[in-house]
Amino acid sequence: MARRFKPYTRIAAIWDEIGQDKFSERMVDYTLQILKRKNFQPRSALDLCCGTGTAAIRFARKGWEVYGLDGSADMLEIASGKIRKEKVTVRLIYQRLPEFEIKRNGGLGLKTFDLVTAYYDSLNYLLKEEELSVCFRNVNRHLNPEGLFIFDMNTKEALKYLWGEKIYARAYDNIAWIWQSLFYERAAQADLRAVCFVRKGKLWERFEEVHTEKAYPLSVLKRLLHSAGFRVEHLYDCFRFAKPKKKAYRLAWVARKVRNVS
Ligand SMILES: C[S@@+](CC[C@H](N)C(=O)[O-])C[C@H]1O[C@@H](n2cnc3c(N)ncnc32)[C@H](O)[C@@H]1O
Repeated sequence: MARRFKPYTRIAAIWDEIGQDKFSERMVDYTLQILKRKNFQPRSALDLCCGTGTAAIRFARKGWEVYGLDGSADMLEIASGKIRKEKVTVRLIYQRLPEFEIKRNGGLGLKTFDLVTAYYDSLNYLLKEEELSVCFRNVNRHLNPEGLFIFDMNTKEALKYLWGEKIYARAYDNIAWIWQSLFYERAAQADLRAVCFVRKGKLWERFEEVHTEKAYPLSVLKRLLHSAGFRVEHLYDCFRFAKPKKKAYRLAWVARKVRNVS
């Protein structure tokens, strides 16, 4: 029996090695295109659920003031090593959504940003509508007036058909993984059991993590964003600039802060 760990603990050390950082890279390219089309030039950004820091580092290289927040100490440890190696400045915050609070330097009032991002279906990890609502409100509080919130989320179709009752596997020289998922229709949730093998000399270490995501109807997400003080300016089929088809798997949301919320 493989030892089971909390999500984003043991997998942190192999996240980039198994190519998961490529998603963030792609999202940054896509975000920069969105910003260009909107003629929006941020000078500061907060990357929520920043994981191993790939997006935050890219933003920092542009000269922006960047913070990265994540609830996994293991992911942040990898991020911290990469930031040091890249010689960029990114402030890492170890906090868990939906409640988060970043104080201004000196401690008076909240730190605010021009841009807040959350990539790679990270917000699907919030399993209750109330949590998503609290998270959106906290994003609002950390945005400057007219600031943008850009994030991607999996749809129910993705959890049902892409994750579904499927098994994905890859084997490399020193790492192998098997990902098996189960979809629960009524809850619109899916569990992904990630079994990983990492070579340690002549032996292979085996561990597993279970990751659970929930999908929300568009109407719910729009309502929550609206009541959290946002105007949804674009809803795209992720990585494109077209309106999503009915059965789209991943949507990119571009929302602007239009009023303060308490
Ligand atoms: C799919 S990974 C994405 C990481 C990174 N954004 C990327 O694109 O590579 C999801 C990240 O969300 C973080 N996460 C999940 N639930 C969280 C929560 N409630 N609060 C803070 N971070 C959370 C995990 O620790 C993990 O780093």
